[in-house]
Amino acid sequence: MSHHVTIIPGDGIGPEVTSAAQRVIAAAGVAIDWELGEAGGEVIHKYGTALPQATIDSVVKNGVALKGPSGTPIGSGHASANVALRKALDLYANLRPVRSQVGVPTRFENVDLVVVRENTEDLYSGIEHVVVPGVVETLKIITERASSRIAEYAFAYAEKHGRRKVTAVHKANIMKLSDGLFLDCCRRVARAHPKIQYDEAIVDACCMQLVRDPSRYDVLLLENLYGDIVSDLCAGLVGGLGLVPGANLGERCAVFEAVHGSAPDIAGKGIANPTAVLRSATLMLRHLGEDDAAARIDRAIDRVLGGGGPRTPDLGGKATTAEYVDALVAALA
Ligand code: NAI
Repeated sequence: MSHHVTIIPGDGIGPEVTSAAQRVIAAAGVAIDWELGEAGGEVIHKYGTALPQATIDSVVKNGVALKGPSGTPIGSGHASANVALRKALDLYANLRPVRSQVGVPTRFENVDLVVVRENTEDLYSGIEHVVVPGVVETLKIITERASSRIAEYAFAYAEKHGRRKVTAVHKANIMKLSDGLFLDCCRRVARAHPKIQYDEAIVDACCMQLVRDPSRYDVLLLENLYGDIVSDLCAGLVGGLGLVPGANLGERCAVFEAVHGSAPDIAGKGIANPTAVLRSATLMLRHLGEDDAAARIDRAIDRVLGGGGPRTPDLGGKATTAEYVDALVAALA
């Protein structure tokens, strides 16, 4: 039986890394009918929007998407297609497992963290305006509903996956009402999950502790903005953005995408590391019940990187994306 999945190549390196993932998935023997979903800065001239309704409809219909990054201009221009997609589909939980990678030596061995980021509100509400020239106001929206829902997700994830602890990360010493509400919700949900340890960390100190000793954390539970920043920091602990996968999960749909962006500095050069999208694809395959194929792809990545095979320049190698994917496909056999 073939699965129906929306593929959103996105911008920059997106088409390079998503097509690499499609090739490896096919080589692993999983039959997928891919439906193209357009999104990102490069489709605006065609549709007048970075997120055409047809793409939203396709993900709703299929329930699952694999997505490349979409570029968003800085300081002006169109609004983010990512944020719009997450809101349109109510993909409230952003899951980013961060693990040390076989064959990629970094300062710490055995990093094993899970970032759970609230995905629909906070400063990403996009509500900002000029009060008077020279003064701009941006609204940070935190609700009890979204905070409780993401906390429930984090604790349920911890229980299901045998994790020991959830740490709520906040700045409630300064944002006493908004981050205070977030913490209240986390505490209430924590009380309902007594088997999982619960503690709290102020976001700035948490960043310092993460770079000194990541083993003190397990599951990190964060609002949208802190989650965005801290997950890139965590990616740096294990070898960079080319490696870390992600999933945007809602009640009805799941969109799998890497943590990284469209990497305009290397787009079109054929040297992007597709591992992060591939690991996102293995999360997707498990979601689809294709656990064996997912495990084979994960093992193939470990074999190639762990065995001194070709690697892309972000990991210190000289291989192109295509050469690395050739090695992965050979390692699947
Ligand atoms: P970025 O993640 O695109 O790049 C940061 C650095 O990491 C660059 O040096 C890049 O070459 C490197 N890098 C990232 N992914 C890589 C990969 N797979 N292989 C090798 N090197 C990789 O972040 P940046 O430059 O801040 O953002 C660029 C654009 O991406 C922006 O328009 C931003 O809005 C967008 N973006 C989109 C996301 C999404 O669609 N989910 C997430 C993050 C950013």
